Amino acid sequence: MGEQTTPYHLIGGEDKVRALANCFYDIMEQDPYASELLAIHPQPLDRIREVFFLYLSLWLGGPDTYQQQFGHPRLRARHLPFTVTPELKAQWMYCMRKAMLTTVDDMTLANRLLEALNTLADHMINTQ
Ligand code: HEM
Repeated sequence: MGEQTTPYHLIGGEDKVRALANCFYDIMEQDPYASELLAIHPQPLDRIREVFFLYLSLWLGGPDTYQQQFGHPRLRARHLPFTVTPELKAQWMYCMRKAMLTTVDDMTLANRLLEALNTLADHMINTQ
């Protein structure tokens, strides 16, 4: 994929991806529907806001700073210390859907990314 056609670029680059990550955690912090999801997150969220921004940048085809700093994502393994139930996955997707639709102007792209994230999130479930 050429640099100009990555989702990272199409979304609007660093500023937009950072806005998406921050909006995701703002919703998690503020919306009562996500209170259980918020509760399993180590506080304060400053560190995870930055790490998730770096991960999203990598996932969207942007800079690979996440990989340079933390190595291969191994996302499922990194989530094993936490109890991830279908209910928590639903809360995660709720926050991400709201953040995506707030941040990304291109609805077709937003929906395509949400579909891919939904598959990824299903894969994080480690407790029924
Ligand atoms: C399915 C429901 C999910 C739950 C309940 C969940 C929960 C968590 C929690 C509690 C942490 C630890 C936060 C911290 O260390 O401060 C974490 C880290 C993280 N999550 Fe999730 N997560 C979910 C799905 C996802 C998905 C779908 C992605 C990717 C798109 C993702 C990406 C990450 C990343 C990149 C980290 C940081 C890993 C690291 O320390 O390098 N998570 N998640």
